[in-house]
Amino acid sequence: MMPGNDYIFALNLSDLEIGTQRAVNLRGRNVLLCRTEGGVYALADLCPHAQQPLAGSPIEGKAIRCRLHGARFNILTGIPLNSVTRKSVAVFPVRIREGVIEVNVPPVATGYLPQFAIQSGK
Ligand code: FES
Repeated sequence: MMPGNDYIFALNLSDLEIGTQRAVNLRGRNVLLCRTEGGVYALADLCPHAQQPLAGSPIEGKAIRCRLHGARFNILTGIPLNSVTRKSVAVFPVRIREGVIEVNVPPVATGYLPQFAIQSGK
């Protein structure tokens, strides 16, 4: 598979109306799909302020405002827009093909066994 061309099915576009959002799990990651007049955006469904889901938080123009403590993030870039946190939300590239939303999200590393652990025999 070509690097940077690793898009996978996320949702049918018809299942995400403008002004709505949907949490999905892609490759072990919780991803929040948001659709606005401007397009479809994919963010990590994890507010970096207190590591809580962003799902259910209101979208205000090009921003999402965490429903817990009010941190606002640009939904295109994930950059914080107020002083609640200085940490960004991860965002993922999205493309629409034949009515399907596809997202390029790297897999979560799981089951990794470091070489030294194998060699130690413990
Ligand atoms: S958990 Fe999102 S602002 Fe605190």
